[in-house]
Amino acid sequence: MSRKRVGILISGRGSNMQALIEAAKAADYPAEIVGVFSNRAAAPGLALAASQGLATGSLAQSQFPSREAFEDVMTRILESWEVDIVCLAGFMRILTPEFTLHWAGRMINIHPSLLPLYKGLDTHARALADGATVHGCTVHFVTPGLDEGASILAAEVPVLPGDTPDTLAARILVEEHRIYPEALRMLASGEISAH
Ligand code: GRF
Repeated sequence: MSRKRVGILISGRGSNMQALIEAAKAADYPAEIVGVFSNRAAAPGLALAASQGLATGSLAQSQFPSREAFEDVMTRILESWEVDIVCLAGFMRILTPEFTLHWAGRMINIHPSLLPLYKGLDTHARALADGATVHGCTVHFVTPGLDEGASILAAEVPVLPGDTPDTLAARILVEEHRIYPEALRMLASGEISAH
């Protein structure tokens, strides 16, 4: 079995990154994690990745004259790792249409809502403010429209009385860590594709 080479983009703690790393340790998993890139050098997930011997890189967009120049270097780093698939895992930068099209069908994201509901930020607070009784998370292909690409897998969780954004986030994170590795498995194995 030839395993797909995966690069992960993060900005923060990297718990979804870690879930992907753990899944890829299984001998029959169709992908291997080859590198982790962050737009924040201080992202805890970056140190976590490095401590496990993974290649890491970080660059701040502020070091570049434009979003495009930053993304060009990001693509060069991912290509130097010979990445087949890019996983966004809490990567907190809006990507240009050009970057998403360059990786079309090969880049996926985990979003903390049941898409198409609650695209963008603060999903848990917005779901609570709406009185939602069900909330969840979605893994989807990345396309030019923010959080608009085709869904691969979603998981629902109940909203419970007394939930706060933090308690709801914690309940959903458990599901994120379950469905993200499964969605990557589906893409890397060829079971699904964007077309
Ligand atoms: C997760 O809630 C994910 O859904 C969102 O950003 C958060 C990242 O958390 N896109 P972590 O860095 O994977 O722990």
